Amino acid sequence: MDTIITDISMIATPLGISELHGKAMNSLRIYKDCSIIIEESRIAFIGSFGEAKKYLSENKKNIKQYIQVDGRGKCALPGFTDSHTHFVFGGYRPDEFMLRLEGGDYMEIHRRGGGIEASVQATRAETETELYKKGKIRLEHMLRQGVTCVEGKSGYGLDLDTEIKQLKVMKKLNENQPVSVIPTFLGAHSVAGEYRERGDEYIDFIINKVMPVVAGERLAKFCDAFVEAGVINVRQGEKLFQAAQRYNLKIKIHADEMTSMGAVELALRYDAVSADHLLMISEEDIKRLSQSRTVATLLPATAFCLNKPYAPARKMIDSNCAVALASDFNPGSCFSDNIPLLISLAVIQMRMTIEEAVTALTLNGAAAADCAGYTGSIEVGKNADIILLGCPDYKYLVYYTMENLVDTVIKKGVIIKENHYEM
Ligand code: NIG
Ligand code: FE
Repeated sequence: MDTIITDISMIATPLGISELHGKAMNSLRIYKDCSIIIEESRIAFIGSFGEAKKYLSENKKNIKQYIQVDGRGKCALPGFTDSHTHFVFGGYRPDEFMLRLEGGDYMEIHRRGGGIEASVQATRAETETELYKKGKIRLEHMLRQGVTCVEGKSGYGLDLDTEIKQLKVMKKLNENQPVSVIPTFLGAHSVAGEYRERGDEYIDFIINKVMPVVAGERLAKFCDAFVEAGVINVRQGEKLFQAAQRYNLKIKIHADEMTSMGAVELALRYDAVSADHLLMISEEDIKRLSQSRTVATLLPATAFCLNKPYAPARKMIDSNCAVALASDFNPGSCFSDNIPLLISLAVIQMRMTIEEAVTALTLNGAAAADCAGYTGSIEVGKNADIILLGCPDYKYLVYYTMENLVDTVIKKGVIIKENHYEM
């Protein structure tokens, strides 16, 4: 059955079917006291209740044919896209977190074979069924915060079987629960322990043995790499991305997280859909990014958890970059999927406006996951992926700091979550 949401206090949405840059990120389209009509999972109409009634009579329809949702006192936004996560993994690393609190360094722990490698061992040890069960619970946690689309990465296998296992889990989750899952192949998350000191051989293994299976079974949309000192170097990344393009995988990259080492230029050479992290990005690379269509995906909760300086979001937007915000949810550097935290860090710490933060989590997040053509904004023709906040204005997203204000989540026109939020 189709749906009509009536008397919505405020609709706030960016507009468009691709990433918004610079100043454009700051201008949301605002509607007050409006209705949204959803037909066959898409947005069919947006306007006043009077106009909605006219639309219905012109189309010879009766409001009784629709599920009616009361939008009074609520603010409608596009569903959030979390465009950078590592949510399918085995095991946890609380002891590593404690080590870091005592002054331990993330990359030093990595060098000693902890960090990602610890999650690799734990993920290899879990069955597909176990990973599926945990993945489903984690998506449910994101859903209740208004996330309707999630990008998820492999990268805790680093061998053929486990990389494929992670990607298959995401494929099944995409088919069997309501949050869309966009899969990314991150075989180059680290050099597998078996290949220690033999990074070039490891990259050849990924290209020759794993990527053909990933692409052949259509298990990923993107290929990603953690290009970082002591992990994957630019030359290896280059080889990987050349192969990825031959297999029609689009490119994402973990760039300039700890060191600035040419990863942004690498991303631009391969038309990366997004370059992510960017804590250490240089002035020149900000300029280069701003002249490209590559989305700068910022992950402030990671900087927060690692106690590192935030990416220069203000400078990037003022330089006309397209910025997205994502959680980076993973068991190591950022064990948090928390959207309210993300918004508060972006606005209070990184000096983004709340409007820019909304754009960054909706349309630009969707662009970073390559799905802005059909989701990420409230516009006629787009999928009806809509959240209703239990408050009358989107500004409460930062004003009511760290509160999950999501009341109702609608995905492709179907109510998939009701938190019954009141304030
Ligand atoms: O995006 N930086 C590399 N990858 C993840 C962390 C992975 C981990 O620590 O398990 C990130 O921060
Ligand atoms: Fe990451």
